[in-house]
Amino acid sequence: MVQELAEIDEIVDKYEGDESGLIQVLLEVQRENRWLPKDTLKRVSQRLGVPLTQIYHVATFYKAFSLMPRGRHLVSVCLGTACQVRGAPRLLDKVTETLKIKPGETSTDLQFSLDTVNCLGCCALGPVMVVDGEYYSKPTAKEIDQIITAKAIEP
Ligand code: FES
Repeated sequence: MVQELAEIDEIVDKYEGDESGLIQVLLEVQRENRWLPKDTLKRVSQRLGVPLTQIYHVATFYKAFSLMPRGRHLVSVCLGTACQVRGAPRLLDKVTETLKIKPGETSTDLQFSLDTVNCLGCCALGPVMVVDGEYYSKPTAKEIDQIITAKAIEP
């Protein structure tokens, strides 16, 4: 199992087995792994006494959760209207070319996941790319290469 049972139990115990803490439990469990494997969800279900179907419902409803392996670094490109007008499609092409993955995919070495988002609330900076929570306004092809390379070699 990717995540040790004891680790999952420890997180559930913090919420004293209270099923109303389900979302917090899932967020914490995912923080360790970057995604929610089936065995992990089964354990959370057992320990919280919440049916597995209900847990899947929550895990698929919120975009914050992933039921697929996620990369160590998350890259998002904004495809909201303002960013589209300002060249987001070209930015996305360059990012997909650099990462060699499409939106929704994770690299085979589990280093990067790529997503698109609809608006980050900073339209004047568009087109915008976010890497691990850091915003980049109008990055050039060279800057994208530098950012990705720096992330790839990060310890
Ligand atoms: S449309 Fe991209 S930040 Fe608003």
